[in-house]
Amino acid sequence: MNQTSALWAPFTAMRPFNRQPMLFDSAAGMHYTTTDGRQVLDAMAGLWCVNAGHGQARIVEAIREAAGRLDFVSSFKMSHPAALTMADQLVAIAPAGLDKVFFTNSGSEAVDTALKIARAYHQARGDSRRTKLIGRAKGYHGMGFGGLSVSGIGRQKRDFGPLLGDVAHLPLPYDASLRFSSGQPEQGAHYADTLLQLLDIHDPATVAAVIVEPVTGSGGVYAPPLGYLQRLREICDRHGVLLIFDEVITGFGRLGHSFAAQTFGVTPDLMTLAKGLTNGAVPMGGVLVSGTVYEAFMNGPEQAIELMHGYTYSAHPLACAAGLATLAVHEELGINAHVQHIAPVWQSAALALREQGLVLDVRAIGMLCAVELKPRDGAPGARAAEAAQRCFDAGLLVRASGENIVLSPPLIVNEEQIALIFDTLHCALDAIA
Ligand SMILES: Cc1ncc(COP(=O)(O)O)c(C=O)c1O
Repeated sequence: MNQTSALWAPFTAMRPFNRQPMLFDSAAGMHYTTTDGRQVLDAMAGLWCVNAGHGQARIVEAIREAAGRLDFVSSFKMSHPAALTMADQLVAIAPAGLDKVFFTNSGSEAVDTALKIARAYHQARGDSRRTKLIGRAKGYHGMGFGGLSVSGIGRQKRDFGPLLGDVAHLPLPYDASLRFSSGQPEQGAHYADTLLQLLDIHDPATVAAVIVEPVTGSGGVYAPPLGYLQRLREICDRHGVLLIFDEVITGFGRLGHSFAAQTFGVTPDLMTLAKGLTNGAVPMGGVLVSGTVYEAFMNGPEQAIELMHGYTYSAHPLACAAGLATLAVHEELGINAHVQHIAPVWQSAALALREQGLVLDVRAIGMLCAVELKPRDGAPGARAAEAAQRCFDAGLLVRASGENIVLSPPLIVNEEQIALIFDTLHCALDAIA
């Protein structure tokens, strides 16, 4: 590796990285190949995004074709057919009522867009007091100032304040009694009632929106207890507060449906998307917006721009091509049905790790799983980092995040690969202290 490389990588300790960079050369199906020629089983779907597996020929070809035909067109005051089709196809697979799509280039931009739409919606209705935003403990909503403000991971905010002021947070709907959960915990819906307390404290008439990940992802895979999201929805409705689901991770088959909203039977007013939207192949994000919210913007003068917001690369032709091909590949491969079939196998293989002495908790839902390790005295996160390194040396890519080993494989994973993932992780844990 060129030790003098100018690269400054995201969320990376640069000095160890520069000493021993982890470099990949190619990817196909469930595997990466490193620059030194090793095959590595990808148990992270890249970064929760390559849901249909790496190198899908139809997606690759669609990007190639688009690049050769229409390299770029602005989305300000103009567009192109694939953008219209992509929006229509997303609405077709979304829960009823989510009728419009605003395109961005990442999850962070999708979140900031959703927060801005929420505030502007209330403005458009003449309710300008509603500016406050409510997030949740351990929520991850990207790295824009808006998303960071509503996120619930303090360490990520420490160096960047002050953030948005008008923000409050719900607690995580989780406690030690819910350890070793598979699917939705049966207890814990009452955690939604803390929203009532927050609304009381902050005055419900000043709150614009609540944003949650239906399943907390990066913060450590926490599923919503049965009835919890329903109760959040009811409370938001009662108080005129918009509900935003951040489905950047949970969208596109991760829980066996196009969106977690369908898995859990709760429809938000706004839904953020990214990652699996293009199978990770071209950066793209988006916000699905309810018809009701959209219509509230459509009352001003005809020639006036209703939403003063957007990005140069919104609905980029290459991203739309990749997105349309991704939706087709999901359909062709029957990914939702495959996940519904294989998720129980995944979850029971994950839960079997509970007997391993270093394991404090296992949380598995859909094709997501966090294995939380007992922290090593005086060295927070060291066990998970060491376990991830051992897995990598043994040919398995997993993600260490705090004390958690987090797993979210491409959704084409088969039973043999699931067994290999958990056997390799088990051996890695057995080998460390
Ligand atoms: C739930 C959620 N929201 C937003 C984001 C931010 O997405 P991006 O990294 O594409 O900006 C992420 C990224 O992991 C995420 O998991």
